[in-house]
Amino acid sequence: MQPDATSTQAELGDHAIVVKGLERIYPGGLRAVDGVDIVVDSGEIYGFLGPNGAGKSTTVRILTTLLRPTGGSATVAGFDVLHEAPQVRRAIGVALQEAALDPLMTGRELLQLQGALHGLKRAEAKLRGADLLERVDLVDAGDRLLGTYSGGMRRRLDLAMALVHRPSVLFLDEPTTGLDPVSRSALWREVKALNDEGTTVFLTTQYLEEAEQLADRVGIIDHGRIVAEGTPQELGRLVGEPGLYVKLLDETQTEKARDLLAVHGAVSERREGGLTIRTALGARAIAPIVRTLDDAQIEVDAVEVEEPTLDDVFLAVTGRPAEETGGDQT
Ligand SMILES: Nc1ncnc2c1ncn2[C@@H]1O[C@H](COP(=O)(O)OP(=O)(O)O)[C@@H](O)[C@H]1O
Ligand SMILES: [Mg+2]
Repeated sequence: MQPDATSTQAELGDHAIVVKGLERIYPGGLRAVDGVDIVVDSGEIYGFLGPNGAGKSTTVRILTTLLRPTGGSATVAGFDVLHEAPQVRRAIGVALQEAALDPLMTGRELLQLQGALHGLKRAEAKLRGADLLERVDLVDAGDRLLGTYSGGMRRRLDLAMALVHRPSVLFLDEPTTGLDPVSRSALWREVKALNDEGTTVFLTTQYLEEAEQLADRVGIIDHGRIVAEGTPQELGRLVGEPGLYVKLLDETQTEKARDLLAVHGAVSERREGGLTIRTALGARAIAPIVRTLDDAQIEVDAVEVEEPTLDDVFLAVTGRPAEETGGDQT
């Protein structure tokens, strides 16, 4: 049968990123990326989740034309990363994990320089720089030397740099690794806002929570292969029913509580004290559980929903904990 040219056109229109059988074998034989297939729709946030050494940065470097694949193919914004690299580069913004900033420049200077590199005229680059400083909340710090920036400020400037030429597809490699919770949520808000404006986002992370907060769909990568893919909810379900942790004020009532709570789900005792109740209701089971204990005059110290961690999902998918798979700090 003849391949249908129009179907390819349609594919390009709907998909921001198409990856087929992608492979990168490093000299020495390490298969860092080992047959990866990914399709990211235009307007999606795709979370690429995996432990250290899984192959996330290698994949990002290939998709952003900074590294050649040893096998397979990929298109980004409709252009082939190998054969149409300049077009790909014009369409994308990239904030890499290891980005180095010149400590003796100011944020404003660096943004203006980036604008000039992308072919903006002086006045345009100046305006664009000022806009972007506002956008990432660095107006006050714009004229300070980069050497004085905190980790969170650097990451926000990285993001601004990636946005200078208004890319349609944005690649962020572990944008919040090492950041404090406040800087992390500031960056999350910015990524969401960009996505709301139509930017497709491909984001790598080691944090399930980050993927849950941001991503429409998540691919879990392990040893260069995708081992699971789906919405964050679908991945969470791989772990089984959500757990509620109940800590009692008086530990001697644990046995009694255990019997009473069995009506709400599967109850197990924890080594460090307290009980875990697995129930499909999740957080909605908190009120009935507390009522049951109240009725029996058992006092509750704390009830918490136990969010599945990357470790839990990993364990469910691969049968071993995520940290054992850690490779180099890359
Ligand atoms: N330039 C390189 N040469 C050889 N091996 C590399 C190189 N870069 C990365 N690796 C190895 O490839 C694997 C995947 O690395 P990477 O893509 O950086 O993973 P991640 O970003 O998920 O931490 C790791 O085992 C890493 O040590
Ligand atoms: Mg990496």
